[in-house]
Amino acid sequence: MTATAESPAAAAPPFGIPLLEVDRLSVQFGRQQVLRDISISVSLGETLVILGESGCGKTVLLKNMIGLVRPTRGEVRFEGTSLASMRGRELARLRTRYGFVFQQAALFDSLTIFDNIAFPLREHTRISREEIREIVHSLLAEVGLPESVGLKKPAELSGGMRKRAGLARALALDPQLILYDEPTTGLDPIMSDVVNELILKVSERPGVSSVVVTHDMNTARKVADRIIMLYPLPRLAADESQIVFSGTPAELDQSRDSRVQQFVEGNAGTRLMELQDARTSVPGSGNEETNDT
Ligand SMILES: Nc1ncnc2c1ncn2[C@@H]1O[C@H](COP(=O)(O)OP(=O)(O)OP(=O)(O)O)[C@@H](O)[C@H]1O
Ligand SMILES: [Mg+2]
Repeated sequence: MTATAESPAAAAPPFGIPLLEVDRLSVQFGRQQVLRDISISVSLGETLVILGESGCGKTVLLKNMIGLVRPTRGEVRFEGTSLASMRGRELARLRTRYGFVFQQAALFDSLTIFDNIAFPLREHTRISREEIREIVHSLLAEVGLPESVGLKKPAELSGGMRKRAGLARALALDPQLILYDEPTTGLDPIMSDVVNELILKVSERPGVSSVVVTHDMNTARKVADRIIMLYPLPRLAADESQIVFSGTPAELDQSRDSRVQQFVEGNAGTRLMELQDARTSVPGSGNEETNDT
């Protein structure tokens, strides 16, 4: 269960049982450390929003949650079982309990929208053609797309339609945990809010937990039961936590931490100077003229 009109999220949330636990997770690619000692737990029915500026490791964290990237240290547990201990078939079965809404919708270009949404049903269930047709049509209706969109290919859709088709596909197997990576990026404010409303509506399904990675403060305020904010490791001291905020949306607005305030207000502070300093400190890039776009 999650927030309803009768039981707003800010009042005693009925959460407690962890569905997903990220335990002291660190991820390193070659010499670049991206995540350091991250611990997060997502309760049954909870919607957790992860904020953080570009490049701080949000997508890498989501991919660890689903076992697409392996941690360098630490572990991820689903209902108490470590993803690292699961064999291929177990992991595949587990993934049917997840819905993943990718940063770029990630639909199969050569398939129609109908076949994209039907894909997980054909792959993982033995239900009849008729039932698949019914489920796909009801999913299209749920995300506000007409049945005729089912006949089109992804390239024929607008960005907002593609995002909603991606959400319909993620919902096909009736997942227990839905992971969203930047669900509103690139959408106009109205379509962004349509997507926010959908995330909220889906989160109200009994027993559904959601993790929403976003830069969009409107999304965070609208859908979050709880928010955490990650900070880029290169800008932290060795003993500082990479999770610079954890709390409710109301607590985020009251935070006195300048890193949190800058993000919430969309204020660059000294970031441009830092980025320029980082560039000129790279050997060979001193005073050369560049043509970055
Ligand atoms: N497979 C990989 N191999 C090597 N480096 C990677 C890999 N995946 C991500 N990285 C690096 O990890 C860092 C974090 O990337 P990530 O995609 O998680 O950022 P993000 O917070 O999702 O950013 P954005 O908001 O722009 O999507 C980046 O420096 C990226 O280059
Ligand atoms: Mg990302």
